[in-house]
Amino acid sequence: MNMKKLAAEAAVELVQDGMVVGLGTGSTAYWAIQKLGHRVKAGLRINAIATSSSSEELARQLEIPIVSFADIDHIDLTIDGADEADSKLTLVKGGGGALLREKIVAAASRIFYVVADESKLVSQLGAFPLPVEVIPFGADMTKRQIEKLGCGATIRMQAGKCYITDNGNYILDCEFGAIHDPERLHVQLNAIPGVVENGLFINMAHSVFVGYQDGSVRRME
Ligand code: A5P
Repeated sequence: MNMKKLAAEAAVELVQDGMVVGLGTGSTAYWAIQKLGHRVKAGLRINAIATSSSSEELARQLEIPIVSFADIDHIDLTIDGADEADSKLTLVKGGGGALLREKIVAAASRIFYVVADESKLVSQLGAFPLPVEVIPFGADMTKRQIEKLGCGATIRMQAGKCYITDNGNYILDCEFGAIHDPERLHVQLNAIPGVVENGLFINMAHSVFVGYQDGSVRRME
């Protein structure tokens, strides 16, 4: 059973003609973009804005019309994945490294739907290391400042080199273990010079569509 696909397709059912749609990043958002591609082929008229170069490339292959922020003043609906979601719909995102663009797009969206399999639901955020995007200059110092907040941080690597985001930055994966006060941590992290954005998404998601092993999809609001 492909639980990610089920959840993604349930959310895409709610996309309507004429919408500007935000396209998420990751293996669950992949299925949402695929389904949107099918609907566009069948006549759905939308414009889309992507949260990563990989999602934009996929959308272009599927002939989904892509626009930029210069062309629009808001996004109607964004569909994106998450690494963790709690019962308040607070999210940890950025496992795929796209958290900054994902947050910009989600913040510009009238509706933000999250799509996930049941493994992403948690009673306590923080088991998944929190991704934080930082400027390369002074990254070791920024890392030490972040660690003072009570985590061990690791600069994300890829093929033996520092992973570079679409924005030319680094990602620090921060192991807090349990995040008891996401609002406070969000403010503390973003106050550190060198931090561009963190992967906590608070009061942003309107619904989380969760795919289950038995083939059902539950919508959390
Ligand atoms: C990308 O940066 C992330 O925020 C993803 O949305 C998140 O990691 C979920 O990815 P999967 O759907 O691949 O699990």
